[in-house]
Amino acid sequence: MIFDTHAHYDDKAFDEDRDAVLSSLKGNGVGVAVNIGADMASSRRTVELAARYPFLYGAVGVHPDASAELDEAGMEELSCLADREGIVAIGEIGLDYYWDTAPRELQKYWFERQLALALEKDLPVVIHSREAAEETLNIMRRTYQASGGKLRGVIHCFSGSAELAREYTGMGFYIGVGGVVTFKNGRKLKEVVEKMPLERLVIETDCPYLAPVPFRGKRNDSTLLTFVIEEIARLRGLSAEETERISERNARALYGLPEKGKEWQS
Ligand code: NI
Repeated sequence: MIFDTHAHYDDKAFDEDRDAVLSSLKGNGVGVAVNIGADMASSRRTVELAARYPFLYGAVGVHPDASAELDEAGMEELSCLADREGIVAIGEIGLDYYWDTAPRELQKYWFERQLALALEKDLPVVIHSREAAEETLNIMRRTYQASGGKLRGVIHCFSGSAELAREYTGMGFYIGVGGVVTFKNGRKLKEVVEKMPLERLVIETDCPYLAPVPFRGKRNDSTLLTFVIEEIARLRGLSAEETERISERNARALYGLPEKGKEWQS
């Protein structure tokens, strides 16, 4: 089955037909998707979605762009939301120096606080890093070492070099690969996919964003991951079936899900 490790089905892009899209996933080979929170409101919606749909799991967290809305009460609420059924990670969290929506010191502060929350809950983290590769790596490495190697998770929508990927996979982190790998200008990510250890690769849509070629620019959803799988298979000289199977196994290991989780209910 296809396992989408990063989706935003709570996004307003799905307001018109959310249930229809979600209900069609299973019939199209998608077995599991993890909905990722990006602020307090979307973290709450993620908990609701994970409770409603057996094949949806969730991550709760506040994206660096929304850092300014986080406070102690927010951290307490995130801590409660993280305990709810089907919540399997803290994210997406990290640094975004591209949009710079929030002051960098504030981004770093709440990033580190949420990493600490993940360690406290013994959950993996979903990392967002844009134009902040060095600082993100420094914080991740420092926290990884301070935790005695307990910090774990995925670098979502990986956009770094093969060398940076090696730094992360060396610490046991997973690399999230999505639609960008099918883009003509996706050469850097293709090289990462060619060189990285296959047991650290997971696939993701980041839907509604980043639809793969030939749907680039359109609304994305988990069924389009077949195009991502095909490209990874081509780059690694594998069959699409093998690639799908390996990426599912890796995704279950990343989120600590059994082979037959709640998606087998109903
Ligand atoms: Ni995302």
